[in-house]
Amino acid sequence: MCGIVGYIGEREAYPVIVKGLKRLEYRGYDSAGVALRDGGLKVYKKQGKVADLEEYTVGKDLHGHIGIGHTRWATHGEPSDRNAHPHLSNSGNLAMIHNGIIENYAQIKQELVNKGYTFKSDTDTEVLLNFIEDIQINNTCSVEEALRIALKRVVGAYCILLISTDEPDAIIAARKGSPLVIGIGKGEHFLASDASPIIEYTKEVVYVNDYEIAIVRRNELILKNLGNEVQTPFIQKLDMELAAIEKGGYEHFMLKEIHEQAETVHDCLRGRLLPDQGKIIMSGIDNHLDTLVNAPRIVIVACGTSWHAGLVAEYMIEELCRIPVEVEYASEFRYRNPVVNKGDVIIAISQSGETADTMVALESAKEKGAFIFGVVNAVGSSIARISHAGAYTHSGPEIGVASTKAFTGQLAVLTMMALKMGYAKGTITSERYIHLMQELHSVPEKINEILKDTTAIQNIATKYKDAEDFLFLGRGYNFPIALEGALKLKEISYIHAEGYPAAEMKHGPIALVEDTLPVLFVATKDTYYEKIVSNIQEIKARKGMVISVATEGDSLLEDMSNDIMYVPEIDELIAPLLSVIPLQLLSYYIGIERGCDVDKPRNLAKSVTVE
Ligand code: F6R
Repeated sequence: MCGIVGYIGEREAYPVIVKGLKRLEYRGYDSAGVALRDGGLKVYKKQGKVADLEEYTVGKDLHGHIGIGHTRWATHGEPSDRNAHPHLSNSGNLAMIHNGIIENYAQIKQELVNKGYTFKSDTDTEVLLNFIEDIQINNTCSVEEALRIALKRVVGAYCILLISTDEPDAIIAARKGSPLVIGIGKGEHFLASDASPIIEYTKEVVYVNDYEIAIVRRNELILKNLGNEVQTPFIQKLDMELAAIEKGGYEHFMLKEIHEQAETVHDCLRGRLLPDQGKIIMSGIDNHLDTLVNAPRIVIVACGTSWHAGLVAEYMIEELCRIPVEVEYASEFRYRNPVVNKGDVIIAISQSGETADTMVALESAKEKGAFIFGVVNAVGSSIARISHAGAYTHSGPEIGVASTKAFTGQLAVLTMMALKMGYAKGTITSERYIHLMQELHSVPEKINEILKDTTAIQNIATKYKDAEDFLFLGRGYNFPIALEGALKLKEISYIHAEGYPAAEMKHGPIALVEDTLPVLFVATKDTYYEKIVSNIQEIKARKGMVISVATEGDSLLEDMSNDIMYVPEIDELIAPLLSVIPLQLLSYYIGIERGCDVDKPRNLAKSVTVE
């Protein structure tokens, strides 16, 4: 949520920053700005995307070797030029960008107003900035010292970058709860919310920890804690290629990421799932097998699409391991004083590993003695770091705001986890264990079959692009996929869509059915097949338009449906990994037909690092 970039070195800072902001635009894109240090401070900012900022800066003085830039997802104050970052302090000596929320900003603002400070924006950032300036003036101290004092008073989350006229050769940064990576070059440093703006310049990075302040100069990086003690930076090598964060010939990241799924699922399974040897090797699980298998209960905590993966996992773990599972929205779990006992296992699922609600839910469960297992995509992210153990999904950077390949990666990890635990616990037979391993192993090839020809899905998208509402229905393992299909369509095409368990339809949503309502059934061949066929009849009897996701060769559903999308046959427990793919594509193509910005849907951001 909000992307931040900083540069200090020999190069011109502006082009480095703007390129970096474009890579981070998935984090927020309602306004953008830069501040450059070149003698004094120059600030340029504009409502809209980074491209609007570029247009605005044409012909302006963009010279400077030190700079900070920001792409915003509004929290305090509507998207506008004046609320865009960077902000300047009242004296004009400090410029700052911020990702996060300062919760006690109102009180601090009042104190500053009483002292005569004025504010140009509605943001909490400008309040923190002037608070730092006020401390600096009152204590006649350095910006770094003033920042340290200010942060001790601040409640909330932040990643901030500061430049100052008093510090001609430094960017000062701090983090708590919002990510910050520093890239180390030769006589230069790069700062960013994630590694994507850094990767083309250097692979050596330092992930700044919570409550640390970084003083970054061309040839020097000093890390300190809030107690002013110097910390040793832990330099890591990035395991990421530039190609992974570029579109690679696809028109949109979303389409590229949908098409990457055969490969990303394969990467996730590689070296772990060994059906020939009857083994699943996952060190995060192997090292804690007793804790996991003997858990009195498992609570899965996640948000959005990751929460849907959690629902699938609930069904799998209960079926295969006979351990009670609850799936919680992190935002509810963290506030409702849930019962968490020592020995409970919490599985946190997160693509970004930075989702604030999930993070805080985990922290409180950890304090209560729960064992935290993270299923995370972003390597080295906050959730990965606070978990006791975990398994990465290895899906590679996901740039499209709508989650696609991360979801199938999560399902692949969770399936292996359920299988491994069930087998260790003795709650599944070895025949079923081997069979499911083989089925999971066949997924990448079957995903490729679905993606080979998407013409039918594109035609369906054209036909239904003007629908005002959509209903998505599924049963059993396909129920969470109906929810995911509805979420994808809503966020990408802005069509109102609801997902329901198909049998629940007659308890309310059936009232919506009329001849203009498309009802999408995820109806692959499984235990519930005959039941869902009856549900389809109920919709047809009321003249609803039926679109089905069906198993290859299902002529019954072909006859019953207005339109149909096929997936290859597979065991019902693994089916979500396939049945979600046509729904991702359908949302993508409907979004395109409607002229939507599918990679950057309105109001959304990729990493939700605020509550
Ligand atoms: C939907 C989507 C979101 C995320 C949610 C959780 O396409 O991407 O619903 O799934 O914000 O994010 P992570 O998985 O990063 O914790």
